[in-house]
Amino acid sequence: MQAATGTSFAKIILIGEHAVVYGQPAIALPVKSIRLTATLRPRPDPAQVVTSAFYNGSLADADATHFAGIATLIRQLLTNFSARQQGFSLTIDSALPPERGMGSSAATAVAITRAVYAAFATPLANDTLLNWANVSEKIIHGNPSGLDAATASARAPQWFVKGTAPRPLRFPGQGVLVIADTGIPGQTKVAVGAVAHQLAQEPRQTETTIAAIGQAVRQSAVALANDDLPGLGVQLSTAQTALRSLGVSHPLLDRLITAADQAGALGSKLTGSGQGGCMIALAPGLATAARITAALTQAGAAATWTYPFAEEDMA
Ligand code: MEV
Repeated sequence: MQAATGTSFAKIILIGEHAVVYGQPAIALPVKSIRLTATLRPRPDPAQVVTSAFYNGSLADADATHFAGIATLIRQLLTNFSARQQGFSLTIDSALPPERGMGSSAATAVAITRAVYAAFATPLANDTLLNWANVSEKIIHGNPSGLDAATASARAPQWFVKGTAPRPLRFPGQGVLVIADTGIPGQTKVAVGAVAHQLAQEPRQTETTIAAIGQAVRQSAVALANDDLPGLGVQLSTAQTALRSLGVSHPLLDRLITAADQAGALGSKLTGSGQGGCMIALAPGLATAARITAALTQAGAAATWTYPFAEEDMA
């Protein structure tokens, strides 16, 4: 093992969360200004030590904590390189708020997998990376679509369908997303479980709602291809109506969405698993984005970010 780092990005789901678990498409973007770095250093002694904002301690003690899924991933990665007993210090530096729908757990898995492969000077293919990320995502989320890891590891917006290779998607040169954090943690496992429960209780109505989200995603792809920001905004709001009826919104999300719409958003919705976490609002340009940001702060947002589509490099 040699010292090595791996990086990954925050992800924002533009549209398609929850329905993507049931085979519908989704569109998501890596936010490269919000990144996570995993730094791995070999140690001369056998201690395996993790330092991060969400877990500090030995790998062996992580099992009864929120870090258990990532700890399993690290153990399996080490075993893969015949280095299960190798001493190391792993430091995770993250600008992603955890449990806010920005894909913190997937970004952690992606950065650690990259760091371990780099530490053993081994090339890492994208499908291998996503398979590794799935190890911890399954433990943490139960039934992940794979969207979070696919986006956290990408450099461009992605069109994603569960079980298929993600495809990069072109975004218009105009348009700004304002992202706002409610400050309320939302747990993906719980929210995905709530939708599964509703599907079991009311299958016909829930299937119709999931299909409506899928249709809004396809219409969004058409709007993106036509540089049609108002058309995209309508689809975002349509998806929010469906997500609310799936039971994954939250009163503060609803309040922020109303505030954004009143401040001139073309459309707005929750992003990620919901029941807390973040929302997004689409603005036609930076001036409206600034008005929306002020309105969101006034309505109680804990933090805001701005993501102009023009800054996106499609490489
Ligand atoms: C969570 O960021 C996105 C969900 O669709 C779950 C998943 O895709 O695994 C809610």
